[in-house]
Amino acid sequence: MSNELKKKRLVILISGTPGTGKTTIAQYLKKKYSANVLNLTELAIQKDFILEIDEERQTKIVDLKKLLPFLESFIPSHQDNLIIEGHYADVVPDHLTSVFIILRTEPHILEKRLKEKKFSPSKILENIQSEILGACTSAALETHEREKIYEVDTSNSPVDETIKTIQFLIERKPPTNIGKINWMRKLEESNELLRYFP
Ligand SMILES: Nc1ncnc2c1ncn2[C@@H]1O[C@H](COP(=O)(O)OP(=O)(O)O)[C@@H](O)[C@H]1O
Ligand SMILES: [Mg+2]
Repeated sequence: MSNELKKKRLVILISGTPGTGKTTIAQYLKKKYSANVLNLTELAIQKDFILEIDEERQTKIVDLKKLLPFLESFIPSHQDNLIIEGHYADVVPDHLTSVFIILRTEPHILEKRLKEKKFSPSKILENIQSEILGACTSAALETHEREKIYEVDTSNSPVDETIKTIQFLIERKPPTNIGKINWMRKLEESNELLRYFP
């Protein structure tokens, strides 16, 4: 493959708290970009990259010593556009990333979605707290160039509209919009912060 073609191939990361819409959005983008989708959690289970299972937090801890070498060899050898989704997509090295989309969801709406997903009450609270604190965005900022990172609010727009927004970001590369979403401030204003940080 020529350098020109290599440059044009997209590696799109999609991160976000569980319930923000990563899997839904990845499936839509897959069609738009004739891309393949890599779900990091499924990959880790299939390839046995799980280090341990944290029973108390109902979380699988991924063995980065196995996952990273796999990504370093798989991504450059993959010829088609690639979408990598998972709430720890920040582990994908920056030099292999074209654009990094972080999905965000307003805490009350996220709570509803996680209840529908039958998450346990403790897991729901843990995830909402992490969403309020913007944990996925912080993680992305620590490892990736700021200019590649965009936050997209999936709270109130239909999936089609979210897809259009994401396509615009990928294709037009406007200046980053990080910092506009602030659930903490919103909850403070409505005196509801204690509901999620009891
Ligand atoms: N704009 C939107 N973008 C993505 N998902 C949305 C949107 N609006 C509502 N949803 C719903 O939110 C849920 C997100 O679930 P899912 O895609 O499994 O999230 P994740 O993979 O991040 O855990 C789905 O039921 C989806 O239909
Ligand atoms: Mg998912």
